[in-house]
Amino acid sequence: MGKADTIVGVYLSDSIDLEAIYGESLRAEAGDVVLRHPSQIQCPEEVRFAICWLPVDDAFAPYPNLQLAMSIGAGVDALMSHPGLDESVRIARVRDPHQADLMAGFAAHEVLHHEREFDRLRRQAERATWHPLPMRAPASRRVAILGHGTMGRAVARALAALGFDVRVACSRAPQAPVNGVHYETGPGAVEAAATDADYLINVLPLTAQTDNILSTALFARLRPGAWLIQIGRGEHLVEEDLLAALAEGSLAGASLDVFRDEPLGADHPFWSHPKLRLSPHIASDSLPEVVSQQVIESARALRDGGDLALAVDRARGY
Ligand code: GLV
Repeated sequence: MGKADTIVGVYLSDSIDLEAIYGESLRAEAGDVVLRHPSQIQCPEEVRFAICWLPVDDAFAPYPNLQLAMSIGAGVDALMSHPGLDESVRIARVRDPHQADLMAGFAAHEVLHHEREFDRLRRQAERATWHPLPMRAPASRRVAILGHGTMGRAVARALAALGFDVRVACSRAPQAPVNGVHYETGPGAVEAAATDADYLINVLPLTAQTDNILSTALFARLRPGAWLIQIGRGEHLVEEDLLAALAEGSLAGASLDVFRDEPLGADHPFWSHPKLRLSPHIASDSLPEVVSQQVIESARALRDGGDLALAVDRARGY
């Protein structure tokens, strides 16, 4: 394969060492797709694509011929709103079925943790107390899921398989609807799905339409004592509204995995709140081998003028 067949990309992240994670598998799989750290790029004009995680504001500036910016994750909000990324550059993301399974497992775990009162059982066990707790039929418990992309669909499938009454809000008629799941679509879908729900799970992409969507108005639609599982983006949640809902009891609690500022500041009131279960943005992650494979396929499609199957719709925002 001649030099003309190679395509050159750059790793762009200040928070993660992308080369350490993906370099080996990318080099092993594809001699024709060359990826370098910015410090190793001698000819910036050669760079046609970037793989990114939270690139800093001037990260794209050195590369005049960039055509594709690819997120190593499912979310592209940081690229969509990036001040230094020219509108002409295509944006793509990874679509990893294993990441969706991890997300589904996390969401199901959080639902069951609250539903089956595992904290209470642990406290009982610590006091050597044998006290069986009452149970409710999963079918009598309503789970609202906001979003039906790769993640939302996997979450819906998992919770439906556990017997819950699952309601999904999606912007358009669902592709590959899950059997037994009730769908709400179009304007008002989010409110309709949330009405009388016992669990509210957010896996929406972050766009101008969805930021601050987890607010007092939406919490008011849930059944009193509902539980929020926030695994979308921190900007979806109005933090003061959550604290108010916890204080007056319309929410019994929440599992929060994503935050407006990550890492969450040491003095943030969420840390010590007794009704919150916090985790450090670990609900799911894309697997390095899937990312590497999809980066290679996308780079080759770009080079060969093929279809960029993982490109997102810039106008829609995801
Ligand atoms: C994780 O947050 C992702 O976007 O994949």
